Amino acid sequence: MTTLITGIGELTTNDDELGTLADAALVIDGDRVVWVGPAAQAPDADDRVDVAGRAVLPGWVDSHTHLVFAGDRGAEFAARMAGTPYRAGGIATTVEATRAATDDALAANLRRLVDEAAAQGTTCLETKTGYGLSTVDEARSARIALDVVDEVTFLGAHLVPPGVDPDDYVAEVCGPMLDAVAPYVRWIDVFCERGAFDEDRSRAVLLAGRDHGLGLRVHGNQLGHGPGVRLAVELGAAGVDHCSYLDAADIDALAGSSTVATLLPACDLSTRGPFPPARALLDAGATVALATNCNPGSSYTTSMAFCVATAVLQLGMTVDEAVRAATLGGAAALRRTDVGVLAPGARADVHVLDAPSATHLAYRPGVPLTWKVWRAGTRM
Ligand code: NIG
Repeated sequence: MTTLITGIGELTTNDDELGTLADAALVIDGDRVVWVGPAAQAPDADDRVDVAGRAVLPGWVDSHTHLVFAGDRGAEFAARMAGTPYRAGGIATTVEATRAATDDALAANLRRLVDEAAAQGTTCLETKTGYGLSTVDEARSARIALDVVDEVTFLGAHLVPPGVDPDDYVAEVCGPMLDAVAPYVRWIDVFCERGAFDEDRSRAVLLAGRDHGLGLRVHGNQLGHGPGVRLAVELGAAGVDHCSYLDAADIDALAGSSTVATLLPACDLSTRGPFPPARALLDAGATVALATNCNPGSSYTTSMAFCVATAVLQLGMTVDEAVRAATLGGAAALRRTDVGVLAPGARADVHVLDAPSATHLAYRPGVPLTWKVWRAGTRM
C-alpha cells in the first residue's frame, strides 16, 4: 500500500542532498519513505493526501523522558515558583508513588503520555526507568516501558534511595539490578551530580552497563558544574543531557566528540535554572539535540514544539537549528539513522504542520500546530 503526500509547501528532509524543498511530495510504502522530490514529478500511489501548502517535517525524536511513574508533584512545582529551589531529592516522592502503583496503572499513565506526545508530532521516544530504585521495581518499569516506547534506558542510578548506603546501592545497581533489567533496555544512564552520583560511582555504573552490552547516556551538569560532560565524552556516551553548567573545556570536549549535547529547555524553565550555552555549543561544532525531559518533577511537558520555540526564543538557536536538533539531533543521541530524516529508506514518521513553514513553530509559540502525523507509515 503506497501513499502519496503532495502539495507540501515546505518539506524539511534533514537529508544533506535533498535539503529543504518547496512544492514537494513524498511517497510512503508500508512503514518506509520510498520517494521524495518535486510534487510535479511524483509517481502514482494507491492513496493520495494533499496537504494544501502546509509544512512537513520529520516526526519529533524525543530522546530524553522519564515516563514510568505514578503520582503528581504539582504542589512541589507551585512551591518552586514561590521560591523553593529545585533539588534532586524530589525524585524520592515519585519513587514512593511509583512503587505503590500497580503495573496496569503505570502502563496506563505511560500510554497516556506517549499518546499525548504523538498527537503533537512525536514519533520516536526514549524513556527511562529511575522511579523504582529497587531490583524488582526497576525491572518492572523497564518491562512496562519496552511494550510502549521505541527506546528504553536503565536509570537505576537516578538517586540513592533514602537510608541506603551509596556504595551498597551502586553495588546493587551494577549487580542484581542490572542483570534483571538488561533484557528490557538498550541504554544505561546515571545522574552524575552533587546529591546524586559522584564521578567514581557514575563511572562504575556506566562501565557495568557497558559490560552488559548497553549504550551509555549521562545526566550531567544540570544543577552545577561537575564531571558529567567530561565523563560522558571520555566513555563515548551517546548523549549527555542537561548541560546547563558548561565551561570552555566541556564545550571543546563535546565539539571534538560524537557525544550529543541534549538540551532540555522546558526543564530549565520549570526549575528556574540557567539555560545551556546552546549558541556556543553549535558554534563550536557540537551536535545538539532538544528533548522534553518529560517527568513529574522538573519538566512535566510532552511538547517538543514548546522546546523548539523556547530554544529559538531563549537559547539563541535559529529555527532550522532547533528543528534539526529536535529531529535529527534526537536521532543522533539515540544512535539511529532511520528516524529524524525524510529520505528514501527512512521510517515514514511524517509531521504535517497547520502552517506554511516550520518558522511558525517559534513565530506562533504556544499554538498547537500539528495537523497530521504518520508514524512508521500509519496515520496517528
Ligand atoms: O532529568 N535530573 C534528574 N532527573 C530528572 C528529574 C526527575 C525528578 O525531579 O523527578 C531530570 O530533570
